[in-house]
Amino acid sequence: MAQSNKQEAGDLFAGFRTGFKSFATDAIHIGQEPEQWSSMAVVPPISLSTTFKQRSPGNHAGFEYSRSGNPTRNCLEKAVAALDGAKHCLAFASGLAATATITHMLKKGDGIVCMDDVYGGTNRYFQRVAAGFGLETTFADCTKPELLKAALKPNTKLVWLETPTNPLMKVVDIKTCSDLVHEHSKDIVVVVDNTFMSSYFQRPLALGADICMYSATKYMNGHSDVVMGLVSLNNDDLNERLRFLQNCEEIITIGGVPSPFDCYLCNRGLKTLHLRMEQHFKNAMAAARFLEADSRVERVIFPGLSSHPQHEVMKKQCTGCPGMISFYIKGKLEHATTFLSNLKMFAVAESLGGYESLAEHPTSECFFCVQHMLKLHRLLSGFRAIMTHASVPEKERAVLGISDTLIRLSVGLEDAADIIEDLDQALNAALSEIAWHPASAQDKEWSQQHFMLTLARFSAIIRTLSQHQATANDRNHAGVLSMDQVGGSSGGGETN
Ligand SMILES: Cc1ncc(COP(=O)(O)O)c(C=O)c1O
Repeated sequence: MAQSNKQEAGDLFAGFRTGFKSFATDAIHIGQEPEQWSSMAVVPPISLSTTFKQRSPGNHAGFEYSRSGNPTRNCLEKAVAALDGAKHCLAFASGLAATATITHMLKKGDGIVCMDDVYGGTNRYFQRVAAGFGLETTFADCTKPELLKAALKPNTKLVWLETPTNPLMKVVDIKTCSDLVHEHSKDIVVVVDNTFMSSYFQRPLALGADICMYSATKYMNGHSDVVMGLVSLNNDDLNERLRFLQNCEEIITIGGVPSPFDCYLCNRGLKTLHLRMEQHFKNAMAAARFLEADSRVERVIFPGLSSHPQHEVMKKQCTGCPGMISFYIKGKLEHATTFLSNLKMFAVAESLGGYESLAEHPTSECFFCVQHMLKLHRLLSGFRAIMTHASVPEKERAVLGISDTLIRLSVGLEDAADIIEDLDQALNAALSEIAWHPASAQDKEWSQQHFMLTLARFSAIIRTLSQHQATANDRNHAGVLSMDQVGGSSGGGETN
């Protein structure tokens, strides 16, 4: 049995780079030495103290104040640096805190070139926040290095790559792009968002990037219970600048540090990173093959499949593939939302990279309400369901191919057969519950009828809600507190 598993894994990894030497040993031992604690604790303690006693002023044992450095954080940073083949690592309060701190190295008038398909929050940060500081961002499809080259300008100071991208799984050749950028100017900092890959499958620094960053919220921690960012790098000067921005005690203090408890959890998560990533790959490959062979699916985007446009680049620069799959379901929006609503084991939720399987609809805003107009609880949760890429302008989404039928899966560590069974039954529901007519006059008529029906149901719910509110108001006037008033009282809500 063990032999056949090995054989199966061997086939899966065929053609990819060989794994990084002593990865598992480093994940388990680097930075974790019991000798660093007087107790000789084998598992690093959670060091909650915010301040550390100095023997005499300025004469301390390596720690002064927990924002500037913390023993538990230190263990994590040392381990991650080793796993990334890096000299330095800094842990942040979130992936976006890491992004913001890196961007703060720039000054007004500087330019950023960003991969055209990136995590929605990164896009939003560059377009809506960094722009306010006078930074100019240009988006380019860096899978085509000539487009990246054309986007570089005299003021470019930062190139932001993400590979594979979120949600379209485009793969960027890190070495080609880093070399090209550094030939243009040695001063441009190349950052690779390595969130989807983790240290186990990709080492951007060895491929020429200056900074490797993560939303450690995802695979690096891997248990969906920590929000954190990580940054690894070799350059001493960049390290000093980032540490200053993260910790400095002068006028600008970003201070985006993670809690010691979160550092403890992420450090613990790293101990099984190699095992988790291999299983994510196995499960995702099984799911991707199933979806690709299925006539209810339009197209599957998984870099581990030979049909992926950059499959060869993936094999050249990575040691394997994570559990991220995007696919276009046949039909239209209704089919995508019905598929998602019918998943039983997959949770419909944002985020990715945890042990549990998740599914999401990158463009979703309030689509669940269309599907479940008569189910109040779903209606309410549907209005809140603004998923990962709703903030990317619609026009840009259309150009990129982030359409209504695109579904993103984060394939977890459950049994592969159960993962496939769940996908299969949800596809069945999506394509049998809603009749699918190919685009035609009939299709238009169906859409109009559906729209009118939806409108009628929506009005009925609004009427019901108004009646409900009126009844609640009557009760309140009669001296009975409603739940809203109880919840809102401390926040200075309605008082009469
Ligand atoms: C690829 C990628 N980068 C960065 C982030 C931001 O990280 P965080 O949510 O930890 O701030 C995310 C979050 O989903 C992401 O998917």
